[in-house]
Amino acid sequence: MVAPTTLLSLLGLATAVSAQTNTTRLRYMPFGDSITEIVCWRSKLWNKLQSTEWATVDFVGSGKTENNCRDTKYDRDNEGHSGFLAINIANQNQLVGWLQRNPADVITMHLGTNDIVQQNKAVTDIIAAFTKLVKQMRDSNPKMKIVVAQIIPLGLGNFNAKVQELNRAIPTWAAQQNTTQSPIWVVDQFTGFSGSSDNRDGVHPNDGGDNKMANIWYPAVVRALEAAKADKLALSGRQRSSQIEAERQ
Ligand SMILES: *[C@@H]1O[C@H](CO)[C@@H](O)[C@H](O)[C@H]1NC(C)=O
Ligand SMILES: *[C@@H]1O[C@H](CO)[C@@H](O)[C@H](O)[C@H]1NC(C)=O
Repeated sequence: MVAPTTLLSLLGLATAVSAQTNTTRLRYMPFGDSITEIVCWRSKLWNKLQSTEWATVDFVGSGKTENNCRDTKYDRDNEGHSGFLAINIANQNQLVGWLQRNPADVITMHLGTNDIVQQNKAVTDIIAAFTKLVKQMRDSNPKMKIVVAQIIPLGLGNFNAKVQELNRAIPTWAAQQNTTQSPIWVVDQFTGFSGSSDNRDGVHPNDGGDNKMANIWYPAVVRALEAAKADKLALSGRQRSSQIEAERQ
């Protein structure tokens, strides 16, 4: 028979562990350019998560800008930077500091539009920047769960051939970069999105475009959160075993 004191301390331990797990809110960083910053898909994504076990997920980032979403409830924190190029963010190591200030378990990345529109950068150079950014994400958190977008089309100029060239390169690149502890999931924000009728200004999503984007992000972000939660549970399980082991001695 187990001594009552042992039972009690085990019960106390179990309570402590579940309390600890429940207070460990998962952290999600929406990372990108203006298509992450001055938009409302973050509001829509947050609202979709409210009826799930992910209602308490903490959106993180250094900014709170959006596109007048008329939503006072959602967590506006994000790491969207209007006008920024993936190549410049990578070259200037900006993500390193952003993740230091706001560490994350899950990150979404929608980048490349400004590289193409402003400076007609080569797809190979944009992809090289993505590689550096993924490395910086993993330096910050070796178990970072990463969701990368094939980016939305534009409704102005003649940029969509280049956008599609970038989008075609992303799945192969992501598969090469993929690891078990830090998976990358690619989501297709291009297909089914109209550069003219789903954008308000040819570049940024209108309400319909925000809905489409949130609906595409949602299942991938949920899968990433599930993977991040599994890591935390495995971690608290290991902590519990070593604690029980320590109490036996
Ligand atoms: C968190 O708390 C809820 C209820 O308070 C409980 O049902 C759930 O099992 C807890 N989660 C974990 C992982 O312990
Ligand atoms: C990366 O691996 C995960 C499984 O860990 C898989 O679900 C995902 O599709 C892979 N990503 C790519 C781009 O192959």
